[in-house]
Amino acid sequence: MQNSNFPKPQLIHSAEALLNSIEINKYSRLFILCDENTHRFCWPILEEALIKQKHRFTLHVEAAGEATKDWRVCLNIWEKLSKENADRQTLLLNLGGGMVSDLGAFVASIYKRGIPFIHLPTSLLAMTDAAIGGKCGIDFMHFKNQLGLFARAEAILIYPPFLKTLSTDERKSGFAEVLKHALIADADYWEELIKVNPENWQSLANNIEKSVQIKSRIVEEDPLEKGNRKKLNFGHTVGHAIESYCMKIGQPIPHGFAIAAGIYIESFLSIKYLNLPKEVFNEIAQTIQHFYAKVDFSEPAIDEIVNFIQQDKKSEMGKSRFTLLKQIGSAEIDVEVSEMEVKTALLDYVAKNG
Ligand SMILES: NC(=O)c1ccc[n+]([C@@H]2O[C@H](COP(=O)([O-])OP(=O)(O)OC[C@H]3O[C@@H](n4cnc5c(N)ncnc54)[C@H](O)[C@@H]3O)[C@@H](O)[C@H]2O)c1
Repeated sequence: MQNSNFPKPQLIHSAEALLNSIEINKYSRLFILCDENTHRFCWPILEEALIKQKHRFTLHVEAAGEATKDWRVCLNIWEKLSKENADRQTLLLNLGGGMVSDLGAFVASIYKRGIPFIHLPTSLLAMTDAAIGGKCGIDFMHFKNQLGLFARAEAILIYPPFLKTLSTDERKSGFAEVLKHALIADADYWEELIKVNPENWQSLANNIEKSVQIKSRIVEEDPLEKGNRKKLNFGHTVGHAIESYCMKIGQPIPHGFAIAAGIYIESFLSIKYLNLPKEVFNEIAQTIQHFYAKVDFSEPAIDEIVNFIQQDKKSEMGKSRFTLLKQIGSAEIDVEVSEMEVKTALLDYVAKNG
């Protein structure tokens, strides 16, 4: 990616303002990508505003779910864009969660060597994380985000009332990333978040701005993840491995639930490697246990989870490097962690969360 100046995400407070923030006249036409849920719950809000302003558009709806981040779906969309004679001034609006923003940005970046796209994130996870920072891609041969690139959105427009229709599980899933932002960057924010009710959309909406700022600042400083952007991986080395394990045994869990378990386990490792005070670990552990049920795996699964950790994209030359915590609000990247300590931390999670 040549131009790494990411647009600043904007918080928008009405559907009209959402459309007014897009300079529609700059583009030859509008192409909107949704999944079936965002089509049902979010599209009517935008459609009404578009019709009022007499804009022409083409709508494309795909199935909801991670399986849609697939090259065959990309072919479908490229075919539709081609058949509709979409030119390089066509704007793609990605109306959805992280699945839609990852897929839409990928599709837009390849079509005719790149057409402009704007993210309208509708899930908490997309508003605070997936839509920010330019990473996009699709899954391939059971590997998550195996095909992808960095691509710059024209704008990221966050309309928090979309959260109203998001399921409780999806709200809590996104909240794990919000907790992570506080843990790696802002101790005061953590104090505020532990009082939030993640099941209540308004309570979440009132508390996402700082998260958006933290993610934006980190990716602006290190767009290509050469250094401090790795802080955002806190909770993810173990979290992704747990998520993959659950997928493999046919019991998938929402991404953020696995990340919450990852936050617990990587905070435990932080005691050993960065002298995170034990009482601080206890506070983090209690918060995670308060918001999230234990992810259901037991001792015999630990070897498989460790195996997934070793296959992680973040592992280099067979060594697992973690982002760990020194304190709440302060993280360190590239900490080399031994397999034995990972196993001990996983055992602690199994024992204490039983
Ligand atoms: N590019 C990045 O930097 C980045 C970062 C984190 C995650 N991701 C990706 O994001 C994806 C996960 O994001 P997600 O959790 O938003 O998943 P998602 O897009 O699959 O959304 C989760 C569910 O919520 C539904 N939904 C979304 N908004 C809704 C709304 N307002 N009302 C009702 N239902 C709604 C969706 O249809 C889906 O069923 C993964 O593919 C992950 O790899 C990317």
